[in-house]
Amino acid sequence: MKFLVFLGTVRESTPPRPARLGVRVANAVLECLKQRYPDHDVELVDALDYPLEAVFKPHFAYPKSRAPSDLNLLAEKIENADGYVMVSPEYNHSMSPALANLLNHFGSSLFSYKPSAIVTYSAGQWGGMRAAVGLRTFLSELGCLPVSAMIHVPRAQEVFAAEGTVQAGEDQEAWFDYFGRTLNQLVWWAEAARAHREQVDPHKLVRDFKTDPSERNAP
Ligand SMILES: Cc1cc2nc3c(=O)[nH]c(=O)nc-3n(C[C@H](O)[C@H](O)[C@H](O)COP(=O)(O)O)c2cc1C
Repeated sequence: MKFLVFLGTVRESTPPRPARLGVRVANAVLECLKQRYPDHDVELVDALDYPLEAVFKPHFAYPKSRAPSDLNLLAEKIENADGYVMVSPEYNHSMSPALANLLNHFGSSLFSYKPSAIVTYSAGQWGGMRAAVGLRTFLSELGCLPVSAMIHVPRAQEVFAAEGTVQAGEDQEAWFDYFGRTLNQLVWWAEAARAHREQVDPHKLVRDFKTDPSERNAP
């Protein structure tokens, strides 16, 4: 199976320090997935690699052949993935605006009927809990339902070094066990959803709306 790990920070400047704390957390998640699920394909999607236009124009707003190639490529990756990990900092008690903006560029039909896992972090003591609450609603609307367990990393700068390895004094096994609860749920649901998608095509059973969300309205 194939999993995409989205990293939702595009900050390069300081303060606060360190910038892009999320790189450490995303690298740790990638390492944990690779160690525990070596047979699955895991790819990082770094929001910083997708400099988007200031005026919002999502992938689905372009005529099919005219969408920018990086958006086309990412749409294809999202469609072909079996599940998603969303790594988000907490900004003003909310999920990362950069992650929301990137995800908003793609229609929910690409994400739907697959599971997702929420990973939040912060430099402070709450580990991005409040970002996670909003992220749950956001991902549910995209149709990639978040699994019940979540990963929160408080004071992430004290836990992980730049490459995602743990800092001296931290117990990597204990952290990966904690990560594993969420990632195991993700992989379990992804396997179940994939097997069932192969039997029943959800997009035929539940039609995606084509032009306007009102197509889903009550009569
Ligand atoms: C605009 C902004 C808002 C922030 N809001 C919060 C917050 O609400 N809660 C929190 O715990 N940390 C907050 N922080 C601190 C972040 O946890 C810290 O800067 C972290 O490094 C952000 O992740 P990043 O470096 O990967 O972007 C905020 C930081 C910024 C830049």
